[in-house]
Amino acid sequence: MKAKRNNLCPCGSGMKYKKCCMDKGNKEGGDLKAEYLKKYGIKLKNEIDIAGIRKAGVLAVKTLELVEPYLKPGTKTDYINQIVHDFTIKNNAVPAPLNYRGYPKSVCISINEEICHGIPGDHELKDGDIVNIDVTPILNGYYADTSKTYFVGTPSREAKKIVSVSRESLKSGLEMIMPGNTTGDIGWAIQKYAESQGCSVVREFVGHGLGFGFHEPPQVPHYGNRRKGIELVPGMVFTIEPMINLGVKDLYILDDKWTAVTQDGALSAQFEQTVVVTEDGYESLTPYDLDKLFFP
Ligand code: MF3
Ligand code: CO
Ligand code: CO
Repeated sequence: MKAKRNNLCPCGSGMKYKKCCMDKGNKEGGDLKAEYLKKYGIKLKNEIDIAGIRKAGVLAVKTLELVEPYLKPGTKTDYINQIVHDFTIKNNAVPAPLNYRGYPKSVCISINEEICHGIPGDHELKDGDIVNIDVTPILNGYYADTSKTYFVGTPSREAKKIVSVSRESLKSGLEMIMPGNTTGDIGWAIQKYAESQGCSVVREFVGHGLGFGFHEPPQVPHYGNRRKGIELVPGMVFTIEPMINLGVKDLYILDDKWTAVTQDGALSAQFEQTVVVTEDGYESLTPYDLDKLFFP
């Protein structure tokens, strides 16, 4: 039956159609899935999809836990790549980074002034480094993306500061996730917090939808304005992954065509989780405790 202005809204809100879904240009009164696909190219996920991404997310978090003990002075980054690769395969999953747009390895490892997309190789970790490990397994066709920044050996005061601010920045973004808020609200909260600490927010890389693919709409900037961007609705799955710099926000890309480094050579850190918007907030599909981190 076709919805009429003065009848109850078919979405089940109990309000009149004209006061509810009619204004959202939502003719079916509740078919958000079709609307979000058409307007934004966003594929909302159902319970089966979410369960699949959650499984990939558990594997991603286990992978981070597995490599943690190896993040010591003298470890070659290629060795960490090997551990991530083998563990992913052993769990019947595929490492999404490998051969993604020509990326040559199975994990991104970004050290100190490297912002993201560092390529594992012969380089050895050394005392005082901060190192981000970013893993994305594909399990039964579902993607989950997560990263953490770790201390190698004894951290400097600056290392402690940037790791703490980037971790708290992710928390600020997560707190904004609920139906009715927007992607702009997330970016706004992150930028406000990071800049209040005298740090800067990278603009060139953003959070992203994912689940059926590595990078889907929407983009989720880690800066911006309240009420701007796309309204969050249940079933949206995306990452938040603020890259926070101790100095300037600007970057350049190394000759390897991948590694992004800070323009001024100052430290950069990042934490990333994959989330799904729920009826009353969000659930992390790559759940690790952002409060219970080793702090020397
Ligand atoms: N994991 C990164 C992200 O958070 C993407 C890495 S792309 C790669 O979106 F090719 F470098 F792996
Ligand atoms: Co990501
Ligand atoms: Co990632």
